[in-house]
Amino acid sequence: MNEEMIRRAAAILEREFGQDWQGIAQELGTENLRKRVGKELTSFMAFPERGSGGDSQWRGNCSPEVVSSILRYVLDAKRYYGKATSQFTLLDPMSGSGTSKAAADRSGVRSILYDLNPAPAHGKGGWNALKDDVEDSADLVFFHESACALISPYHNIIQYSGNMWGKPHPDDLSRCEDYNDFLEKLNLCIRKLYMALRKDGRMAVLVGDIRMQGRFYSIQNDMMRMGDFESFLVKGQFNCVSDRRRYQKPFIPIVTEYLLLLHKKDALLVPFHFAKDSTFSVADTDLTALTWHHLIRMTLESASAQPSMNTKTSTQPAGTAYTA
Ligand SMILES: C[S@@+](CC[C@H](N)C(=O)[O-])C[C@H]1O[C@@H](n2cnc3c(N)ncnc32)[C@H](O)[C@@H]1O
Repeated sequence: MNEEMIRRAAAILEREFGQDWQGIAQELGTENLRKRVGKELTSFMAFPERGSGGDSQWRGNCSPEVVSSILRYVLDAKRYYGKATSQFTLLDPMSGSGTSKAAADRSGVRSILYDLNPAPAHGKGGWNALKDDVEDSADLVFFHESACALISPYHNIIQYSGNMWGKPHPDDLSRCEDYNDFLEKLNLCIRKLYMALRKDGRMAVLVGDIRMQGRFYSIQNDMMRMGDFESFLVKGQFNCVSDRRRYQKPFIPIVTEYLLLLHKKDALLVPFHFAKDSTFSVADTDLTALTWHHLIRMTLESASAQPSMNTKTSTQPAGTAYTA
């Protein structure tokens, strides 16, 4: 399809549906990925319309359809395996505008909501994920750390305490000192909330990626995982404040968030995955993957030389051990 056809299609849709045309086009355009093999939920989520429930004006809110889809899946999985759902409980420990409650109400399940905000829209306020105990247990823990809700003082970053509510709070996850501080705190929340899961429960963590001062940070890649990693869903982001900005510098805009679904199969045994960053010097390490050819080129590059080596010849087959 060429640009002209797309332009004509857009004009036809706009004539027919007025201002709603873009939402309709987004729904149509993502449908093939959202609905496959007869399933309403795939590893690609897109809710351009958001839907009602929670507060669309609450910065960093998520579509209730995200919570509803996961909730339906977890309930279906339980029913499929003949497990009881009458006591099913959804817990959202960072509930913001209360989107999770709307989704739970719609499915007729009990929900428990906490937030550090002393006066949240729903549920228990003044609950601190870093200090307070989780006094409830749940079959689904859903929580959302918005991609933007991180680390001051960068523009385009939502801070909750002292901005959306109350005074600045030192344990507000949107007021971490730096990325590592944020990760440590997020990982603590993951450990704590996993413990609050009932056997066969699931934890759904929705996170974004961020770019700060030209550096890319992928929370989903760096955060701790507990339990069985059941699914990884990519969610398209729509109607973000940053969509309206224009940037000169070459970079790849972040237009997706990620939902990690973790399954607690055993009450006591806990599989976990912990990412760790490290650095090594090529010059001081034994590397099977390194050839003489590349070592010399890298050394020259490091000395700011401009080597023009013929890359076709290799002095040593790849995979041969090299001692630097
Ligand atoms: C991204 S918002 C959640 C939005 C929510 N999913 C919605 O749709 O409205 C993150 C929430 O985490 C809360 N929060 C931040 N730090 C917290 C902490 N230490 N303990 C509990 N809640 C915290 C903030 O007050 C904010 O409401």
